[in-house]
Amino acid sequence: MINPSNTPTSRFLRDAGIEPAMRILDIGCATGLLTRELAALVGKNGHVLGVDSNDDRLAEARDQTIGSNHATIDYENVDLAGNLPDWEPFDAIVGRRVLMYLPDAAETVRRLSAFLKPDGLMIFQEHSATGMPFAAGPIPQHRQAHDWLWRMIAAEDGTITMGLELPKLLEKAALDIAHYRAEVIMLGSASDQGIEDVANYMVERVIDAGVADRESIRPGSLTERLVAERQKASPIAWDMAYLICGTKRS
Ligand SMILES: C[S@@+](CC[C@H](N)C(=O)[O-])C[C@H]1O[C@@H](n2cnc3c(N)ncnc32)[C@H](O)[C@@H]1O
Repeated sequence: MINPSNTPTSRFLRDAGIEPAMRILDIGCATGLLTRELAALVGKNGHVLGVDSNDDRLAEARDQTIGSNHATIDYENVDLAGNLPDWEPFDAIVGRRVLMYLPDAAETVRRLSAFLKPDGLMIFQEHSATGMPFAAGPIPQHRQAHDWLWRMIAAEDGTITMGLELPKLLEKAALDIAHYRAEVIMLGSASDQGIEDVANYMVERVIDAGVADRESIRPGSLTERLVAERQKASPIAWDMAYLICGTKRS
């Protein structure tokens, strides 16, 4: 599954200053998608530690192969809401769509900042439901899917405005903000925009969260309805990725 909302990350990591030989912590690494990208960027003289509290996702991450020019990766089960291990300092701490799931993200960022070297980088990509999605014409199917996904996140106690809260979090951790930008994820008319995969993947979670029932979601025709609407209404501004880089004062 290619999540179109991941497309801004690589560019931002480079702009923010991720370089060969760095030692990096990837928080909320899940199955290691971003962890492996970081391992490719820092190369074989670097090191990446991926941490998550979900053992199944960590097991899946450990099963993936990485290229011979990539940094070595270690994975560790860590609850970011609890006490953090006594890590050696990192050149960069990175996270994508994880702060939104933490009960007190500001406190976690503040505690993580203690593990950054002087001038080290704290880099996050988060999203926000605010104002999305939009298009020149009506897009009821995409609006409905977007609404289900974000109501599901809210029902799971996720923060649905995290992208907009990032500067405040970094300031509270006494980090200087070097870059903060938002990038719209645009969907074109082609049938393989990835968003159908995301929507289908989330169906059971949406139902479990009590946001919508199977009859209203109609999973059997969800893909077809979204693709048909995009053929008429694209381009659709689907999601907003917020990217921030803070630096630790030396
Ligand atoms: C949307 S996924 C992150 C995806 C991943 N960063 C990527 O870009 O591919 C969110 C992850 O945060 C993890 N997570 C949520 N709360 C956590 C906590 N308190 N401690 C550690 N990990 C947590 C979940 O287990 C999940 O794997």
